[in-house]
Amino acid sequence: MNETLKTIASRYSCRNFTGEIPSSEQLQAIADAAIQSPSANNSQRWKVIVIRNKELIGELETEAMKSIAELPDKAIYDSINSRGGKLFYNAPCIVFVPIEPSNIASASLDCGIVSQNIALAAESLGLGSCICGLARFAFSESKEAYFKEKLNFPEGYEFGMSVLIGKAVTVTSAHNPNREKITYID
Ligand SMILES: Cc1cc2nc3c(=O)[nH]c(=O)nc-3n(C[C@H](O)[C@H](O)[C@H](O)COP(=O)(O)O)c2cc1C
Repeated sequence: MNETLKTIASRYSCRNFTGEIPSSEQLQAIADAAIQSPSANNSQRWKVIVIRNKELIGELETEAMKSIAELPDKAIYDSINSRGGKLFYNAPCIVFVPIEPSNIASASLDCGIVSQNIALAAESLGLGSCICGLARFAFSESKEAYFKEKLNFPEGYEFGMSVLIGKAVTVTSAHNPNREKITYID
């Protein structure tokens, strides 16, 4: 297997970070990988916002957990609590990928590709990552404008996805790939 395939095969969702902030060089390499993502018509309807401010990460986590706790369906809240009660798993860094919503469904697809580039770049540098869609709950009605401003979202941009980055406390195995998902037609 070449290095790229090894990186793809070893990536997993890290849910236990040491809290140590990755170096600026590592974060720059990850951000550069993000902006090298393909996008429909090279439209790049996203931004890459790297947060390493512990206080702000804490504020986002508190607000998201509050919103999740208020959901009528307790399944998400219970599942977070079963994993230690921390939405961001002590990650010292979160990369937000806000998107410019449009009628073109590809904006979310493009955002997913950016997220995967971030996760794979982190893996290739020996860092853990976890794509974290639940961070969207921080943008509740009351705090939406506040966090959009604090995170420097461009005008009209919405939460697209976030990716937690940091050093893993213990490295975990990747999930077993299911080859039944593959069909060849000759
Ligand atoms: C769009 C998307 C959103 C996700 N959101 C979360 C999340 O909010 N919290 C979390 O712990 N994992 C989240 N994950 C990680 C998935 O649970 C994980 O990718 C899946 O269980 C497969 O495990 P693996 O990443 O270790 O291969 C998300 C993954 C994707 C692709």
